[in-house]
Amino acid sequence: MKFPEPRGPITSTLFRALACTPGSDEGSAAVDELRLLAARHLTASADIIGDDDVQLALFCLYELHYSGLEGINDEWEWEPGLIQVRRLIERPFEAALRAAAASASASAAESVTLPPAGELTSDAVADILFGLAASDTGPSVSRFVAKKATLDQVKEFLIHKSIYQLKEADPHTWAIPRLTGRPKAALVEIQADEYGGGRPERMHSALFARTMRGLGMEDRYGAYVDAVPAVSLAAVNMMSLFGLNRRLRGAITGHLAIYEMTSSQPNRLYGNGFRRHGFDADVTHYFDEHVEADAVHEQIAGRDLAGGLVEAEPGLLTDVLFGAAAAMAIDGRLSAHLLASWENGMTSLRAAVPAAA
Ligand SMILES: [Fe+2]
Ligand SMILES: [Fe+2]
Repeated sequence: MKFPEPRGPITSTLFRALACTPGSDEGSAAVDELRLLAARHLTASADIIGDDDVQLALFCLYELHYSGLEGINDEWEWEPGLIQVRRLIERPFEAALRAAAASASASAAESVTLPPAGELTSDAVADILFGLAASDTGPSVSRFVAKKATLDQVKEFLIHKSIYQLKEADPHTWAIPRLTGRPKAALVEIQADEYGGGRPERMHSALFARTMRGLGMEDRYGAYVDAVPAVSLAAVNMMSLFGLNRRLRGAITGHLAIYEMTSSQPNRLYGNGFRRHGFDADVTHYFDEHVEADAVHEQIAGRDLAGGLVEAEPGLLTDVLFGAAAAMAIDGRLSAHLLASWENGMTSLRAAVPAAA
């Protein structure tokens, strides 16, 4: 990924550090400065999920574990000072996600009933998650895209989605070696589909790139990072947080389960929105594929992955529900931002979009 534009003192200091050689005097001094800056800023930040400087810094720190940042020394990935900064940000970020998830599940409490501890079967866990998914009756971006979105708004929608969808499935893959038995087999089964079942052109990330090209947009990973607000980055950072911390393996399975459970119907509507603008199956393939695939994935993710994990480790139920509710809460916040912007005739992006490919 290309270096994004810094969004404040944390990201500009981080980028200055990354331009150095790890372990060099200059690099170490920049990391020390970064650690102090981040610690001071985090105690003062009232809304970490909406904090541009913090979310972009975390996004780039995680990116070191994915495909990296253009031109930097790969040794930075495990440089202890940067890991320290990442953990410094992760702690209050996780706390903010737990608070957001708690209010999301409090409003869903009526539709979700927890069985007695002894009856925590994988089917019961799946039912709880389906109940949680069904409780989401908030304003819907998919309905707006299907019926009303202009071509520019449809492109904005793709820009927000591109931050994750061009590396679709990668954050959940971190969980594979952290699971065993039934949940592991279930996750691999889902991921095999996400990665195209052995055919690179069928990888979901590749199908999404095709959609973007079909609209004359840039399909290179991270091309639009500068354009999206903090909450769009937070949605991806949440997955990396859950995937990269073994103790949060319950949360990453709950996250994937709720994603799959809330995907099939919205993707049908997204596809309709693109068809309404005259785009053909080449552009809508990504959405059409998810209508079919996720009707299957939601069953595997609910019963065998999340349900199988809780059956084996009942203590993880709380975190499974946390991951699911946090996904809904952040998604809800992003949806509210998109719809409020569009209904007021404004852009939902933070910066001018770079010229299309
Ligand atoms: Fe997918
Ligand atoms: Fe899926």
